[in-house]
This record gives sequence, C-alpha cells and structure tokens, in this order.
Amino acid sequence: MSGEEIRSKYLEFFKRHDHAVIPSSALVPENDPTTLFTGSGMQPLVPYLMGEVHPKGTRLTDSQKCFRAEDIDEVGDNRHTTFFEMLGNWSLGDYFKKEQLRWFFTFLVDEVGLDPQRIYVSVFAGDESLGIPKDDEAVAIWKELFLERGIEAHDVFIGSEEDGYEKGMQGGRIFYYDAAKNWWSRAGKPSKMPVGEIGGPDSEVFYDFGPEYATHPDFKDKEPHPNSDSGQFLEIGNSVFIEYIKQEDGSFTKLPQRNVDFGGGLERIAAARVGTPDVFKVDLLWNVIEQIQTLSGKKYEDNLVAFRVVTDHIRGATFMIGDGIHPGNTEQPYFVRRLVRRAVRYADMLRIPAGELKNLSRSVIETYKGHYTNLREKQNEIIDAIGKEEEQFRKTLERGLKEFEKIKESHIDGPTVALLFTTYGFPYELILEVAKESGKTVDEAGFKEEMQKHQELSRAGAEHKFKGGLADHSEKVVQYHTATHLLLAGLRKELGDHVHQAGSNITGERLRFDFTHGEKVSGDVLRKVEVFVNDVIQKGAEVTMEIRDKEEARKDPTIEASFWERYPDQVKVYSMTGENGELYSRELCGGPHVQNTKGIGTFKIQKEEAVAAGIRRIKATLE
Ligand code: SER
Repeated sequence: MSGEEIRSKYLEFFKRHDHAVIPSSALVPENDPTTLFTGSGMQPLVPYLMGEVHPKGTRLTDSQKCFRAEDIDEVGDNRHTTFFEMLGNWSLGDYFKKEQLRWFFTFLVDEVGLDPQRIYVSVFAGDESLGIPKDDEAVAIWKELFLERGIEAHDVFIGSEEDGYEKGMQGGRIFYYDAAKNWWSRAGKPSKMPVGEIGGPDSEVFYDFGPEYATHPDFKDKEPHPNSDSGQFLEIGNSVFIEYIKQEDGSFTKLPQRNVDFGGGLERIAAARVGTPDVFKVDLLWNVIEQIQTLSGKKYEDNLVAFRVVTDHIRGATFMIGDGIHPGNTEQPYFVRRLVRRAVRYADMLRIPAGELKNLSRSVIETYKGHYTNLREKQNEIIDAIGKEEEQFRKTLERGLKEFEKIKESHIDGPTVALLFTTYGFPYELILEVAKESGKTVDEAGFKEEMQKHQELSRAGAEHKFKGGLADHSEKVVQYHTATHLLLAGLRKELGDHVHQAGSNITGERLRFDFTHGEKVSGDVLRKVEVFVNDVIQKGAEVTMEIRDKEEARKDPTIEASFWERYPDQVKVYSMTGENGELYSRELCGGPHVQNTKGIGTFKIQKEEAVAAGIRRIKATLE
C-alpha cells in the first residue's frame, strides 16, 4: 500500500463520516506570529478550535504539510524528518472521545490492515495540581475497542518517561503517562503554555515492530515501554482533546466547546503497514533514495545518515520553495538555505556529482504533484532555485577555503572558527576536515561557546515571537487584525487594484503588513491611507461575516483576496459597512474581527519599506 493510497483512504474514510476535506495550509503560517512554520495540522485551525465559525462546518479533515525546524539535527535516524505530512481530523465542538478513538482504531485495523495485536495506546495520567483528572473515560473506550477484536487490554500506570524505564510494559496495553507525554498544546506541557493558549490531554497510538527492534544505542539495560526511544515502538497518531485554556493565574478553565484535534504522520502509518520502523523505506521517500543510489553508486544500507539527510532536506526545500519561500539569510528563508547547503555537504560525502540536487528535487515533485498541485505549477521555479543555491554555495565554499588559507596559526581559536562558520557559511564539519588536512587544530570548546552566544540571541528572538499573536484572540490582536483589513482597503483605494496582501504578522503591539507594489509609497499617500482608516474607525463601521461558495465568490469583484488556492470551497467573507451603507472593505478571511470598528484606537503608520522585489512592508500601530 503506497503512501498516496493511505492518504486518500484516510480522507475518504473521514469523508464517509461527514467530514469536509480542506486543503493544506502553507508551510509558513498566515496571520500567526507565534511560530515560523506550520508544525502541526492544528495550528492553522486555532481560531476555529477557539470558537470561530469554520465555513466548512464542525467536522474537518486534511493532510497538512508540516515542517519542524527543531528536528533538523535529529535527521539521520529512522524516524525523524523536518518535513512531513500530518493526516488530520477535527471536531469543532462536535463529536468527542468515543467517536474519535473508535474511528482512528477502525481506520488502522480495517482500512490500513494493521494487526491490532501490535497496537498499544497511551492516555493522560491526570494532574492534581491543575484539578484535571486522569483520563479513565478514554481507557474505558480503548478497552471496549480492543475487546471487540478479541484482545483483553490491561491499563497500567507509568507516570514519567523515567519511571517507564523502571516499570516497563507490566503486561499492559493502555499506559498512563504524565503531562510531559500525554498533554498537547503548541507550547508543550501545561506549565510551558502562555496565558490564552489552548490544549488538552491526548491519547497516542503506537505500533510495535517487535523486541528485536529495541536496539537504540542509548537504550541498553532499560525496559522498553511504548512512549520511549527504544526503537521498538513508533507513535503513529495522536488524538488531542482540546477543551482547556490557560488563565492569568496559571489555572485552566474549559473552553466553550469540546474539540478533537487528531494528527497522524502519514509516513509513519505507511511504515507500520510495510512493517519497517524506517520511514525512509516508504515509497514517498524511497523514490529519492533509489535515485541517490544510482547517482552515487553507493548502497543506502551502508550510508544511512547521509542518504537520509540528503533525501529529507531536498524534500523539505522543494515543498518550502513550492510555498514561495526561497533560500535567504533570515527567518524562514534561512532554513531553506540551510536545508540545501546541508544537502550539498552530505551529497559530497556520497560523491554525488555536483549539480544533481535539482534532479533529486524533480523526483520529489514527481512523487507528490498529484496531491500537491502547487508543486506541478511551480516545478521550474523550484528546480531553478535549488540548482542556483547549490551553485552559489559551492562558490561560498571556495571563498571559505581561501579565507582558511589565510590563517597562519596552527591552533584556530573559537571566534575565528565562528567567523568562518557564520560569515563565510563554511560548515563546521568541513572546517574540522580542512584543519586536519593542513595539520591544524581547532578550539572546539571555544567555538561551541561562541555559537551558544549566537543561539541564545536567536532563542531570545523566538521567545519574543511567542508573545501575543492572532492565535491568542486577545482584544488588542483582534483590533489590529480589523485595522489590517482597513489598511489594505486604503492602499488599494490610493494606489490601485494591483495591491494585494503578500503577508501579515500581527501581535498585540503592532501590525506588519506586506503587499504587492513596485515602488516606494510616498509620505503623501501614506497620510491619505491613515486618514481613510481613522475615518472609518471614527465613524464606526459594522463588521459582518458571511459564508460563500468559493467559485461564486471568486467572480465577485467587491471581494479582495490573495491565495484563493489556500481556501476550501466554502469561504468566509468579512465586510465593513458604514451607517450610510458604504462598503469600506470586503475581504476573504478566517477571522476573528471586532464587531464594530469604533473605538479601536488611532491608526498610525510607523514605517514603509521594501522587503523583496515588488513587495513593500508597512508597520503600523493603534494608539
Ligand atoms: N496537534 C497534535 C500533534 O501535533 C495532533 O494533531 O501531535
């Protein structure tokens, strides 16, 4: 059974259970400054989990493109990838545990054909300090489901991962774990969640490949248990019961609706079906591995890490560029650059001829273009960008080598290594290699110290990023969101209809809005836009939402939208109308917005600048 087949079986299965199939959101989230990448299927749906009306109803399903930058250094083992597809289904205040656990179990056993004897599950052990009980309800449901398949399922208590190494399997099939393991939110366990963040207990499903796979090097003399890195078990799906929101005082209260957020890694489910814990053996990735074998004349089994890094990174870069993120020096584009450059390094280790990465990307596109049609449309752009980045990096390497030759000392100090690394883009492994060849030594500790300083700086940046954001629905953020619509309407009024949104990032302190326009916007025009926005705020326009058929809406010239392809076939349209019936703004959007523009503050444009060819950026505040 191919990955493609599992994907369509899953979507069909949930369609049969009255779910609407929605398209994948982009890898870089719109209107969500909390994170650089979409790392789970749930992220783009946060507003709806919090109560916004979704145009497609209360049961949704999709296969979401995800990217987890934090896993980049883990790539090389048999299960980690930076990019992956997450199969998802959602109940927005509709069904709950009983339906969810039954459906996923039925899908695995009857549709994918997994042996129920090899399935193990985990549930939340409860948290007394938060007054959240252990999930006996899920346990009762699981027992019934297993019993229907002739399996008597015992529940056992584990607690923390560490306790698990002591306690082991205990003859159990259902395992209670603490919040570090069986609680899900975008920020992790309850104590890590910022105020206003949503989350809840979850129930994970694991596939048992057999004790012969419990070979992880860190795992000697420990008891395997499902949620451990023994290598024997692989997590293939997670049902999160999102019904809590964090309060100012650290406590949790219930959301107005009980939601289900299910996510399952497509390759992992496919790997369970094939009976190998190595996700790279699933056809979706294996196509690239085979091509590398041909190009390098080497065998996958003899060079696991290098094969996996090249395959993962080229796939990630392909999807990223397909979503419009080209290699660059900051934020998301930097990760795309890192992916391609690391792929070059590992391709060199395999002695793949220079200039071949673009052909590997071609094969990724071939594999995925049936479902992700944007890859087909952007095929040439993607291949071109990867080819260019490889070429440019090879030049960088040459320059780095020249810089290296200038070093006279036989022991290279930390700051010098860091300079080669950060400024000349000279990879660390390569520095070590070249140093060795030329009989020099490297101050590794000094280098690490230097890099730690760098990382702390960027981590501080990331923490800052998590503050505020549309995701938390705070009043200020919603006000900024409404002001952003007015800003776009004002720009289109003053500059013309070629102006569209190219990106947006909103916190409780400011808005940042990117739009399509070829040249600098004059101060005069900016003042006029400000006057327009403030005028609508002062007069007070009513904000209304209607759900419309996408194809019909697309023909309506009063509706402004970018990225039509990212929306499902039913869309939400927000309008702002004055008392006299004058239409100020009408835009396709997920929401939320204020009900009336009155009193949201005085709008002030702080800055206007270029961000890329043909794209301008405005930063503005509400005072
Ligand atoms: N949000 C959960 C996860 O990412 C389930 O979709 O694991």
